[in-house]
Order: sequence, then structure tokens, then C-alpha cells
Amino acid sequence: MPDPQRVVDLRSDTVTRPSAEMRRAIAEAEVGDAVLGDDPTVEALETLAAEMLGKERALFVPSGIMANQTAILVQARRGTEVVIDAGGHILNYEEGAAAAWAGVQLRGVTTPDGLLREEDLQAAIRPRTGHGVQTSLVCLENTHNSAGGRVLPVERMRALVEVAHEAGIPVHLDGARLPNAAVAAGREMREWAALADTVMIALSKGLGAPIGSVLAGTEETIAVARQVRRRLGGGMRQAGFLAAAGIFGLERNFSLLADDHRRARRLAEIAAAIPGVTPLTPETNILMLDLAPGIDPAAVLSRLSERGVWMYQFGPRRIRAVTHLDVDDAGIERAGSALREALVGGAPPPVAGV
Ligand SMILES: Cc1ncc(COP(=O)(O)O)c(C=O)c1O
Repeated sequence: MPDPQRVVDLRSDTVTRPSAEMRRAIAEAEVGDAVLGDDPTVEALETLAAEMLGKERALFVPSGIMANQTAILVQARRGTEVVIDAGGHILNYEEGAAAAWAGVQLRGVTTPDGLLREEDLQAAIRPRTGHGVQTSLVCLENTHNSAGGRVLPVERMRALVEVAHEAGIPVHLDGARLPNAAVAAGREMREWAALADTVMIALSKGLGAPIGSVLAGTEETIAVARQVRRRLGGGMRQAGFLAAAGIFGLERNFSLLADDHRRARRLAEIAAAIPGVTPLTPETNILMLDLAPGIDPAAVLSRLSERGVWMYQFGPRRIRAVTHLDVDDAGIERAGSALREALVGGAPPPVAGV
């Protein structure tokens, strides 16, 4: 097994380790008991995030899943239905949390590209007939993870939110990678966030913080969310150490996401010239690679790993590569060469050179 410190790890943008400067910010953070409301660094993070998202209040939570589930618990009534596209993270990758904690059922709407269409949403919202099940929340995702980091355009989101709001239904935006969407589209996060009733962003993905997400909304919604977070056991005491990393990520790493997007495009360009693999054009930092029939993704991943490159299986014929702060231009070239060797042959280099 190659040394993990020297591997080109493209499994996810969650694998980054804090830089020396981020570690300094963590070490020097002023902290207090955040549950009692006296951690100035948590306060500063929540103020900064609320400002960047154009929302009244924000709440620091330990994870993206806790942010999503808190939003559902606050807005969706028990025994109702939440509409989401069928590839959504909340539906597929949160261990059934919405059913387990909030007592809601998720209605997945199949879409060709992860982006709900107005007419599909209209059709999925149930009429308030007094029997059957009622729709109580719509969840959107931007960028869309399983659709390959696709950006939900502001205008498209506006049209979807109008459909939901006309039916009296709030909208939650899973914006774990909203920073990537904003950088890719050259727009402000608040342009999307303003449309949603609640929005979450992850600090521990492209922004490079080790832990944490932020949930934002109105003063009233976030006050209830604070109670829910505590009920879930997510109240953290001297959390300013983590909040300091989040502030660093928002202030210093945000604009670097453009490099991740450029590197994903470069890897796609290399992959496009390799027989047996078809890259989906990446809009942000997630590159999906579709393998030709008969090529076993597990075998490709294993050959990549022998060459010190890690990717992730994302379906029976698909592998995923995600760029992030800890992969530089040289890493992308190495990953491209390893992919070529894994698909067209060639002996693995000696592990010592990895
Ligand atoms: C779109 C999306 N939402 C939510 C999450 C959950 O974040 P966390 O792993 O911090 O719980 C992820 C994680 O990959 C994600 O991709």
C-alpha cells in the first residue's frame, strides 16, 4: 500500500488535510462554550456565513448530513412527503435519516441530469385533498454530486422555487458544494441562497476545513434549528477551533476552487484520449468516468491504486475522481498517466517512487 501522504487521492474533496496556515488559525482561535453562546470564533463564523449567504442567521453544525436533517426536522411535518430528485444525496447517502428521524417519506423524481424540471416538480407536489399524503418540503442540491458536480443555474432554481412556494411549500438547498457552483458560474452564493428557505454549505469539502457545515435561514428558523441540533447531540462546546478552520476556508480557500475546476477539466481531457473510458464533461470539481462494457471498475481502481492513485467506484461502470486542495497540477498529470496505464497496460512503477 503506497504511503497515503504521497497518494493522489481523488476519492472525494473531503480527504483534504488542514494546511499549515489553517492549523495555525485553529491553534490560535479564541474559544468558549459555544452551547452557552460564548465562543467568539463560532459567532464570527456564523456571522460571516450568514452574510455570504444573505440570510438572517446561520448555525454551525458538525456535518452536512446533520445540516440537511436539521433542515428537514425544522420544516417537514411527520407523516408527510419531501420531494427531491432521485439522485439526491439526502435520498441516497444519508442512511435513511429523513425516515428515521423526521418520519417523512422521500419522493424521488427521476431526472436525466440531477436537475429537477418545473413540470416534474409540479406533478410531484401532491394536492391538499385531505387524504393521501401531503408534500411538506422540496429539497434541491447544488452542485449535484451524483450528477457529476452539475451546477443548478440560478434562473432554473428560481423557477423551481416559484412552483414550490405557489403551493405553500418551503425549499431546502443542499449546497454542500454551493461554493463550487458560485465559483464556476461567477456568481455570489447568496443569489441561490436567497431563493431557498434554508440552505446548507459544507466547510469540509472544497473549502478544506477538517469538520463542519453551516445551515442558514431566517432568525426564527435557525432558533428552532439550534434546539434540533442539540436534540441530535450536535451542540459542540469549544467549537471555535473548528470554526476557525471554517472561516479560513471561506476567506482564503474559496477562490482556489477555480483551480480544482481547471484540474478536473484537465483530467477529463487526458481521459478523453484513453481508449475504454468516456469522461463526462465536468462543470466543477467532480469528474465521472464511464468505462466501456466488459471493463471491471474494481480492477481499474486496483490498478490505479498500485500506481498511487485513488478514485472511487460510483456505479456498475462508473468511477469518480474529485479534485481538491491537496491535488496539484503534477498530481493530475500522474493520475492521467496512471489511468492510461490501468486501461491500456504497462507495469506499475515501484512503490518507493509513489
Ligand atoms: C451533496 C452532499 N450533501 C451532503 C453531504 C454530507 O456531508 P457530510 O459528509 O459532512 O455529512 C455530502 C457529502 O459528500 C454531499 O456530497
